[in-house]
Amino acid sequence: MSELLKVEALSKAYRTAGRQIAALDNVSLALEAGETLGLVGASGSGKSTLSRVLLRLLEPDSGTIRFAGQDWRALGGADLRRGRAHMQMVFQDTLGAFNPLASVASVLDDPLRIHGIADRMQRPAEIAALLERVGLPSAFAGRPVRTLSGGQRQRVAIARAIATRPSLLVLDEAVSALDVTIRGRILELLVELQRERGLAYLFISHDLAVIRAISHRIAVMDAGSIVEEGRAADVVTAPQSEAARRLIAAVPRLMTEPV
Ligand SMILES: Nc1ncnc2c1ncn2[C@@H]1O[C@H](COP(=O)(O)OP(=O)(O)OP(=O)(O)O)[C@@H](O)[C@H]1O
Ligand SMILES: [Mg+2]
Repeated sequence: MSELLKVEALSKAYRTAGRQIAALDNVSLALEAGETLGLVGASGSGKSTLSRVLLRLLEPDSGTIRFAGQDWRALGGADLRRGRAHMQMVFQDTLGAFNPLASVASVLDDPLRIHGIADRMQRPAEIAALLERVGLPSAFAGRPVRTLSGGQRQRVAIARAIATRPSLLVLDEAVSALDVTIRGRILELLVELQRERGLAYLFISHDLAVIRAISHRIAVMDAGSIVEEGRAADVVTAPQSEAARRLIAAVPRLMTEPV
């Protein structure tokens, strides 16, 4: 395997109302192509801040990010636009993630057009193929996004994310709002897509049971720092940090039930 993402010494403080919060405090991590790193931590530990910094939605105070062999923080303009095709995101299901009036087809058409994946004539077929790949009928193309269920919307979000043929998906609480059955199906879809396309995932959740189900390695965040990192099975069965032990204690079903 080859290294896809390497984050070193990333720090970010928020300054609000005279107070300073160290949301990221010297965070380092690495991700191989085709691998899933689960990032777990209590609410407020800095997970979403890290995802926003990686996606270049938020500027860190310091630190370096190498992605796909490039100095990711140094990219701007057309280079950054091109780079974004390779790192895509799926956030928690909220209607706010989409223009509610938009049709499913237009949601999927945008990345194909913007990144020049397919020309105007080819795009309807590409959209139908994307829908089929995420398990939705192609007739969904004409539906307004707001008429879909939460699970269907997350399938559209995944289709949008893979449209540009990325090598990394950052998934921030992507299945957290879904009920258990739907959540399991979406996780299966993600595993299939990873196998087919060699996708890497940074899979963020506060729920260690979900993290364990999908991750090869797990990193545990606490108060802006990564306090533990290791093979998924090791972190769950032999946690080294107090933060990991607290997360395990919060999931009584973890040791007994499949997700
Ligand atoms: N825009 C902001 N301005 C000020 N403080 C912020 C901002 N966004 C986040 N924070 C603070 O930074 C810390 C980390 O927040 P973050 O959203 O990254 O945590 P999280 O691990 O994603 O939590 P959750 O599991 O609840 O989503 C928290 O203390 C939060 O209150
Ligand atoms: Mg968050």
